[in-house]
Amino acid sequence: MNSARASQIRHVVEVAQFDRPALERLFAAADRMRDLPRRAAPLAGYTLATIFYEPSTRTRLSFETAMHRLGGNVVSTENAREFSSAIKGESVEDTIRIVEGYADAIVIRHYEQGAAHRAAAVASVPILNAGDGPGEHPTQALLDLYTIRHELGRIDGLRIALVGDLRFGRTARSLARLLRQTRGTELVFVSPLAVPMGADVRAELDRAGIPFRDEPDLDAVLPDVDVVYQTRVQKERFTTPEEYETARGQYVIDAAAMRRLNPGAVLLHPLPRVDEIAVEVDADPRAAFFRQAHNGVFVRMALLEHVLR
Ligand code: CP
Repeated sequence: MNSARASQIRHVVEVAQFDRPALERLFAAADRMRDLPRRAAPLAGYTLATIFYEPSTRTRLSFETAMHRLGGNVVSTENAREFSSAIKGESVEDTIRIVEGYADAIVIRHYEQGAAHRAAAVASVPILNAGDGPGEHPTQALLDLYTIRHELGRIDGLRIALVGDLRFGRTARSLARLLRQTRGTELVFVSPLAVPMGADVRAELDRAGIPFRDEPDLDAVLPDVDVVYQTRVQKERFTTPEEYETARGQYVIDAAAMRRLNPGAVLLHPLPRVDEIAVEVDADPRAAFFRQAHNGVFVRMALLEHVLR
């Protein structure tokens, strides 16, 4: 693929691709998608491939739902690590060169950081990063910020707590990066000692002038923030069970925590959850994580339309 052609392809591999005007356009498009008539089919005749080397419920199914709602078709391998030719030793690059002949865009989730960039480097169709190891999960961050806008009516001037596994949690890493496009944001990192926010993200926030601090006491944070972004400790990314045990179970949002939470705040979680948000919290109107997951369809519809039309 020559570089002129490559520059015309609209890959979505990292949140740094989205400046503020691009975010505003995407969120307006997602608002339109909420009300898109079921009979409308702007992507009729297009095919989306979803290739997932790691498990997924929300990302794969919401991308596929988004494509169906836009009138397009989907081909999929939901356990590509085992059921694609990866098991025979085929590289990501070769897989992409094959699938680009079958589909007009490819959504890929891979267990290695940087895999989506490798895919985009060889692809002649748009690549959408659905999570690359502990690296990035850009479409999740986009739907997270869209949800904040939808729930609170704004994305500027907010105090946001990122809670849980900030080291391996690619959603928290991507969201922190994306928040560089906001104004007046203050970030609070509440994480177990074993899984702090990485130095790379901290350096980027510094350069962008976004203030952040670490705060080990979640109770002290809850009354003062507009958004709590809780995350799961990523068991699958630890090298030993002992290391995982040192990090798990330290920060749990339960009914008592919700009593401390600012009444105007919103509680988000990219899901899946294990035990870091108690089920008793689900009925609280500030618990927005199921609405957040549903917003994924509208944001991914907007992204698919953006990359394919
Ligand atoms: N939030 C998220 O990425 O969920 P899945 O792993 O189910 O796709």
